[in-house]
Amino acid sequence: MANSCIPPAPASSYQVRIEPDGWVFVAAPNQSVLQAALAAGVELDSSCRNGTCRACLCRLLEGTVSYPIDWPGVSAEERADGWFLPCVAQARSDLVVDQPMAWQAKP
Ligand code: FES
Repeated sequence: MANSCIPPAPASSYQVRIEPDGWVFVAAPNQSVLQAALAAGVELDSSCRNGTCRACLCRLLEGTVSYPIDWPGVSAEERADGWFLPCVAQARSDLVVDQPMAWQAKP
């Protein structure tokens, strides 16, 4: 008999799509969305890469992310409006991200 108190195991990876260009890559649950993008050759604006400068701030159109700690770089109100920090956010579902300034470093 299954124990309903045990949360389901996280997926081994999630698909991330960057709009409006439609680039798609895979993100592991233990890596940031930015790390996954860079590994796939998709460049997103960034600077500090630790959640403080907000250079990477962009909108999450679909999906769920989590942060390893309660990051100060994005307020609860901004999160509610869909803003997130890809340099520290980790995917918890497939994601659709609005980042018109993204570019592809390697096709
Ligand atoms: S790169 Fe500085 S907050 Fe993301």
